[in-house]
Amino acid sequence: RGGPGLVVAVDGPGGSGKSTAAKAIARRLGLRYLDTGAMYRAVTQLALEQRIDIEDAAAVAELAERAVLTSGTDPDAPTIAVNQVRVDAEIRTRAVTNAVSAVSAVAVVRSRLVSQQQQIITEAVDTAGGIVVEGRDIGSVVAPDAPVKVFLTASTEVRALRRSRELGEKGVDDVARTLAELGRRDELDSTRKVDPLQAAPDAIVVDSSGMTVDEVVDEVLRHIAAAGFAA
Ligand code: DC
Repeated sequence: RGGPGLVVAVDGPGGSGKSTAAKAIARRLGLRYLDTGAMYRAVTQLALEQRIDIEDAAAVAELAERAVLTSGTDPDAPTIAVNQVRVDAEIRTRAVTNAVSAVSAVAVVRSRLVSQQQQIITEAVDTAGGIVVEGRDIGSVVAPDAPVKVFLTASTEVRALRRSRELGEKGVDDVARTLAELGRRDELDSTRKVDPLQAAPDAIVVDSSGMTVDEVVDEVLRHIAAAGFAA
């Protein structure tokens, strides 16, 4: 397909199936893939490693201004490095997951990461035909002109079960704990002052609670085709 590259914004809460769907869509269309949550997690991981008080917004802001993030955008093998050190596994720990909302609420952190995300998007559009970008504020803030915006949701119970499975948990207590933590993070992410999680007015809302990954991907691909982009 000629013409401008395609940007697909995929926003939604944790456990909505965003990552799996966004990677699959990028693969199907031969596009790049950017996980913006990984960038917030990488700054959080660095803060924890350097024993910075994550409630100290000024200290977190200073850290974010010095941190050099590198995002690998191959949907088959996305990577994240901070100050040249790969932190792909470290950013998925429970400690990072529970601290990331505080870090991502800091305005300086957001403005710095948003401008880096916009650079990655521009480069992918110019050189690789486009990109699928997942996060919380992609359709509203990072790429408000994206021709396709998806807001993926699922019930809190379904999201907690998925998250729990990702973490390899088996017990009922673990699922209950994950459900509680997810609820707390949703609350923080949706009520923060800067760029709260919300569906852009022109986003397609997809509730994945009763859907398989393939069904979600197919539905998004239909919207992409309807927007005039060949799948
Ligand atoms: O999608 P995730 O669970 O990896 O995201 C981690 C955290 O980062 C989440 O609590 C909210 C924050 N985040 C954000 O504020 N803006 C984004 N574009 C992506 C993630």
